[in-house]
Amino acid sequence: MNTDKKELLRLFLDNKENFSDIGIFIESFKTLMAYYKCAIMEIETKLNVLNEQFSLRYDRNPISTTKSRLKSIESIIRKLKRKSAAYTLSSLEENINDIAGIRVVCSFESDVYTIANALTSQDDIQLIKEKDYIKNPKPNGYRSLHLIVSVPIFLLHEKKHMKVEIQLRTIAMDSWAALEHQLKYKKDTVFDDKMAQELHLCSKLSAELDLRMDKLKKQVNI
Ligand code: GTP
Ligand code: MG
Repeated sequence: MNTDKKELLRLFLDNKENFSDIGIFIESFKTLMAYYKCAIMEIETKLNVLNEQFSLRYDRNPISTTKSRLKSIESIIRKLKRKSAAYTLSSLEENINDIAGIRVVCSFESDVYTIANALTSQDDIQLIKEKDYIKNPKPNGYRSLHLIVSVPIFLLHEKKHMKVEIQLRTIAMDSWAALEHQLKYKKDTVFDDKMAQELHLCSKLSAELDLRMDKLKKQVNI
């Protein structure tokens, strides 16, 4: 049995939602994951539309790249455990906000806010939570704007609201985060205080870069 199947079996065995057999449980789990995938598609379409309109109006793209992912069963279970939340499908929907995740890399810092505001002011989007690590970076220097939104998906006979985590950042923020991840999460590496300070300084430099680039953007009026 592969790891995913084993984890699903564990989830089923601990499930209090009274699924009569593992088959029905797996079907329900798969359906829920498919709904999250649909929610990702909805948000991606909205982002594409915004990028397209921006490009028509201003002749440039505020969104450089987007990347999406569904959380793996393994990390879903790890998170439920960490939060001491029940091992049920409804608990999973309620307690885990980042099953559907989209990372949006923007050209300029001001684009991050333009896109975030345009998206959250759409009348079918509900902003559930916002963490602005650009205005208030994490102690290690991590910067990004995190939104948890709820978006409706339209099924054959019903409408369902699904949560999606959207991480918006600039190219500079993205490269810092990617490199920090590589540096920190390499097995058997000791990351001492001096290295942490250096990484923090790199974050400050990247923030300075974003600021200067935004000033240039204003000067050329784009
Ligand atoms: P989880 O980390 O998902 O349990 O969430 P949280 O509720 O603590 O949320 P937070 O918004 O702080 O972080 C969510 C996600 O942002 C993470 O899963 C990472 O993808 C990213 N992130 C947060 N902090 C860092 C960081 O210090 N470095 C890097 N590279 N990414 C980070
Ligand atoms: Mg996460």
